[in-house]
Amino acid sequence: MTPAPNLVLVGPMGAGKSSIGKRLAERFGLRFADADRDIELRTGASVGTIFDCEGEAGFRARESAALAQLLAGSGQLIATGGGAVLDPDNRRRLRERGFVVWLQVGVEAQVDRLARDRTRPLLQRADRVEVLRQLASARAPLYAEVADLAFDTDGLATSEAACALASLL
Ligand code: S3P
Repeated sequence: MTPAPNLVLVGPMGAGKSSIGKRLAERFGLRFADADRDIELRTGASVGTIFDCEGEAGFRARESAALAQLLAGSGQLIATGGGAVLDPDNRRRLRERGFVVWLQVGVEAQVDRLARDRTRPLLQRADRVEVLRQLASARAPLYAEVADLAFDTDGLATSEAACALASLL
């Protein structure tokens, strides 16, 4: 296993950061932390409500604060939100405090996996496929900047992805 203080998963919505992350945490005896759930626990509000009340900028500020606090710790498997890499300070902290795995997924698989999801504020629009495409191309360089390893989850079930990824770590 990696000598970095934390194992961190980054990547787009629907890449499997939380589901694969839980399995990897168990496999490696790490504490599982999900940055979005952490924000929800601290605020008592859902990500959707935070977006509604404080806008995306308000959510990003909370996300950066939560991530900074998580990354200050060690021995964790941290599943980040898809937009965590937008903040340059987050990118620096990710590189300093984590072995970072970029979970990749194609837009078609994302659409399938998120088809029934109504919790993601950025996808509450009719043109969600176009939104996913734009986010993917805008953020790919940011994921690449922080990633120690890229792993493609396309076509893999959660358990298959977790086992294959574990064998690379
Ligand atoms: C977001 C991804 C979400 C959540 C929020 C914004 C994004 O997390 O943080 O809805 O900007 O891509 P997941 O990647 O866990 O869905």
